[in-house]
Amino acid sequence: MQTKKLYDEYMITSMVPGFDPVEVESALGTTIRSASGEEYLDCFSGIAVCNAGHRHPKVIAAAKAQLDQLVHCCTYVYYSPMAGRLAEALAGITPGALRKSFLASSGAEAIEGAMRLARHFTGRNEFAALTHSFHGRSYATLSITGNSGRKKSGGPYMPGVVFAPAPYFYRCPFGSKTEAECAERSAEQLANAIRYQSSGNVAAFVAEPVLGEGGILVPHESYFRLVKEILDDEGILFLCDEVQSGFGRTGKLFAIEHYGVEPEIMAMAKGIADGFPLSAFIARPDVGDSFTPGSHLSTFGGNPVSCAAALANIEVMKEERLPENAAIRGEQLMGALKPLENELTLVGEVRGRGLMIGLELVKDADKTPAAEAAKEVKTRCREAGLLIGVGGSFANVVRLQPPLVLTETEAGRIIDTLSKVLREVSGAL
Ligand SMILES: Cc1ncc(COP(=O)(O)O)c(C=O)c1O
Repeated sequence: MQTKKLYDEYMITSMVPGFDPVEVESALGTTIRSASGEEYLDCFSGIAVCNAGHRHPKVIAAAKAQLDQLVHCCTYVYYSPMAGRLAEALAGITPGALRKSFLASSGAEAIEGAMRLARHFTGRNEFAALTHSFHGRSYATLSITGNSGRKKSGGPYMPGVVFAPAPYFYRCPFGSKTEAECAERSAEQLANAIRYQSSGNVAAFVAEPVLGEGGILVPHESYFRLVKEILDDEGILFLCDEVQSGFGRTGKLFAIEHYGVEPEIMAMAKGIADGFPLSAFIARPDVGDSFTPGSHLSTFGGNPVSCAAALANIEVMKEERLPENAAIRGEQLMGALKPLENELTLVGEVRGRGLMIGLELVKDADKTPAAEAAKEVKTRCREAGLLIGVGGSFANVVRLQPPLVLTETEAGRIIDTLSKVLREVSGAL
């Protein structure tokens, strides 16, 4: 493959081992076409990016119209109409008092900017975060990432970060018998981490409402309410990382809405513009206004073409009720795949919300992670025409994160193919 040669010869890090050796030529809706003519049902959306489906016609039309008008102007040198309109739209769709946005280009840039804002507002400079979390690949975002594999021997990282255990019920560090108990104990440990590990100077707690890269970990419904009480008592901000869980993926526009909790700052990226590079963080007005003009800037942030695409993407989400479809198709997938937990030792747990679903694969009743099996499942799914993801802290979680335009028939195809492959791989073990 010519592109593989170019990658190997000219691209730093080249292809990550275990990723799909597919040369993607084009994509539309839920279908990816390779240069050699194969068609695949996309179950990963470019890692939860193309939520409205690849090249949604309304998003493409908006971007094309913008291309004919203005491609770049830099949001802090001139007034950019598209940036202003998108900021207004984000204030309209995000929970609670979130109102003032900063527009950037990537998830890591949004989280890092939001951390800087939290520091400005509180005058404090430490952070609390969760084990199994992932927040990006810049220095500060890796520092608050609770996964040494992701940090890849780049340490030591930023000091002043304390970690509390994620409420990962399947592997609950406290051996809790119920999800509610695991959530309660995990929240207590956050309070302890803040009290005993920090120097009493924590600006913000940063967390994903569903931990994506950690293996699609869905905290119990009580967790963020318990956490928010602790944070409010200590005057610590909640910086909610919706980079992967936002824009309809979990059945609501933002996953934190499932918890009835209002963060002071929220970061988003991935699904914001259906594939155009863009990110944002949005804050309560008093928090946002602690940055004065010039406090924080980004040359490419809020690119007009990306903003036009994002505005169209938000309209599409509403018109086509994509969060609702994610909830319905998610129930279809979960309903059919959950029984595999009882049928196959290999399937340790099936969990998720909306179209953010993980199947944790294990070798035995001791829950020994089955990373090799997960890789094999991925390969066999690809050979059967499904592109799925594999992740998690132990590389043993099959990830289903298809575009939210997924139909009932397509969901049925995922169920049939994946169940068959899991049974085959189980038998081969
Ligand atoms: C929850 C979360 N936060 C932040 C990031 C970083 O986003 P980006 O790769 O756009 O910098 C990711 C990327 O996977 C993510 O899943």
